[in-house]
Amino acid sequence: MSAEPRDIRDLARFLSQREDLGLDEVFLEGLTREQVLRAAGEARRGARQPSGLPSRETVGADPKERGSAEFPVPGVASASEVDLAGFEYSELAVVAESCQRCRLAKGRTRVVFSDGNPRARLMVVGEAPGANEDRTGLPFVGQAGKFLDLLLASVDLSRKDSVYICNVLKCRPPGNRDPMADEIEHCSPFLKRQIALVAPEVIVAVGTFAAQLLTGTNRPLGKLRGTVYAYEGVPLVVTYHPAALLRNAGWTRSTWDDFQLLRQVMDGS
Ligand code: URA
Repeated sequence: MSAEPRDIRDLARFLSQREDLGLDEVFLEGLTREQVLRAAGEARRGARQPSGLPSRETVGADPKERGSAEFPVPGVASASEVDLAGFEYSELAVVAESCQRCRLAKGRTRVVFSDGNPRARLMVVGEAPGANEDRTGLPFVGQAGKFLDLLLASVDLSRKDSVYICNVLKCRPPGNRDPMADEIEHCSPFLKRQIALVAPEVIVAVGTFAAQLLTGTNRPLGKLRGTVYAYEGVPLVVTYHPAALLRNAGWTRSTWDDFQLLRQVMDGS
């Protein structure tokens, strides 16, 4: 087991699960005594509420005041906007990291919550993590991500400073298959809360799944693109997914036009 400080939370969860199972003996390698004691303390605190969710003390309000009679039960409940409505940004990321709300939790290496600047004017919403994203915990880091960075750079935007990036699904579908309807249903409340908290001035949805979810239609992307929509009052541009562009160079011109449209919306022109 690695002794990285960021592993402490995983370790705490592991210890908490063992405690739930009545197993109190555990062998740890590569951790300092201080790290083990800290993880054990976090596990004990975590065991007092449904695992993976921040304590009420931490989030600072009774769940009833958040519009939910109970915290969602991991592995059983479907996420609803009401469940997540009271969470602040950092709390939302923690809840997502331990989410067990659909089958994708079993196969994931990392939850892929976001990258970029949470105070950015522009939010990019993609489809779902692939293998590289699942390994690193960051969205759009593979070949499609490099292409996305180039497209953003073409309109003077960079992921580090001026863009916030996330996906409809936070966990990788096996073999990079398409997201399933129930997975989108379970996961999209995270995205909706993310949008509310980041409060971007403009959103760009890349690919069919993000475009259809945010426009609330099931029209094909080729028919959706070229128009500025509004998502909860936020201007929304839709375009092809960079991975699709890599397979179909014929869409490059349209994508270029979509990024020009995006730039115009951002410039207020
Ligand atoms: N494709 C996506 O839609 N999102 C990623 O994070 C990576 C590839």
